[in-house]
Amino acid sequence: MTTPTIELKPSSNPLSDAEREAILVKPGFGRYFTDHMVTIKWTEGRGWHDAQLVPYAPLSIDPANMTLHYGQEIFEGLKAYRQPDGTVATFRPEANAERFQRSANRLAMPELPVETFVAACDALVRQDAAWVPAHGGEESLYLRPFMIATEVGLGVRPSNEYLFLVIASPAGAYFPGGVKPVSIWLSEDRVRAVPGGMGDAKTGGNYAASLLAQAEAAAKGCDQVAYLDAVEHKWVEELGGMNLYFVYGNKIVTPALTGSLLAGITRDSLLRLAADLGYEPEESRVSIDQWRDDTANGTLTEVFACGTAAVITPVGVVKSAGGEWTQGDGTPGPVTMRLRERLLDIQRGTAEDAHGWMHPL
Ligand code: PLP
Ligand code: COI
Repeated sequence: MTTPTIELKPSSNPLSDAEREAILVKPGFGRYFTDHMVTIKWTEGRGWHDAQLVPYAPLSIDPANMTLHYGQEIFEGLKAYRQPDGTVATFRPEANAERFQRSANRLAMPELPVETFVAACDALVRQDAAWVPAHGGEESLYLRPFMIATEVGLGVRPSNEYLFLVIASPAGAYFPGGVKPVSIWLSEDRVRAVPGGMGDAKTGGNYAASLLAQAEAAAKGCDQVAYLDAVEHKWVEELGGMNLYFVYGNKIVTPALTGSLLAGITRDSLLRLAADLGYEPEESRVSIDQWRDDTANGTLTEVFACGTAAVITPVGVVKSAGGEWTQGDGTPGPVTMRLRERLLDIQRGTAEDAHGWMHPL
């Protein structure tokens, strides 16, 4: 399939330079949106058509739109970074495009060609390039490609038409505390996803399923929830929006992809970066007993969470119904910080991109 040409209809009232600059000083996460968005339609029998780069604006949706009732929706998250020479590059957009196809497949939605996904992200970033924060800091432009069903009707079946969109939002640290370690609530009863379910798809339903446990965690003074497997309630899977890594000295372990956790692109990148830096990365199972006992006996030296929004965030205090413990001395560990700096340096264009991950625009 060929990529439809993206027709440009520029915004007639973009934010002024001064307004945009004021936002970029402290963008937070997901609070401000750039001047444009990409929209591409899909219709049964016609495929992808009407690709447009249009002013960012509300959508007009029929109350009987299928997404509103049955949640046939998928999304992605990736970032564009200002490079030292002032140009802009995105990080592994093809990997997001491929995961978007897998999510589409799981939700019985049409697969968007990888080159169309990447072209849509490129077009938006080029148009709104002034929104990419300055080089050097932790800020970036977060891209949110997503797809919704647009057929109107209440029958439960796949929609016969869809809308793919890309919006962009300048992003600072996802956690307001920056690299300050986050506290984790170990959810032993509420699960996020089940075997055979949609845990490995990036679809809104998984995040809806995480909200109550997240609220319970907040009530217990924790920043995030760690979910366990749904069968034995024993094996650590991931957080609501991040994967986990466990540092055993030189060995770095992340929970294996069982089908009920998301195959994070940061997780995958770190498996390779860890090997580059001389660590021994491993995908295997980690139980909560192991997590607690190995912390107590000193073999598990650091734990960190990773994801596009959160980058790499150390885990500090871990609480569960059975008690609580602190990871290491409660401050960011050296392995966590070394991996974090290396990943950020590649993304910011100050370390060699040996794996060809950066996509220059
Ligand atoms: N797990 C979940 C549930 C997520 O939402 C995310 C964020 O995208 C991740 C893990 C990390 O994935 P990635 O590194 O591709 O951002
Ligand atoms: C991302 O990291 O891109 C996500 O989608 C996670 C979400 C918690 C913002």
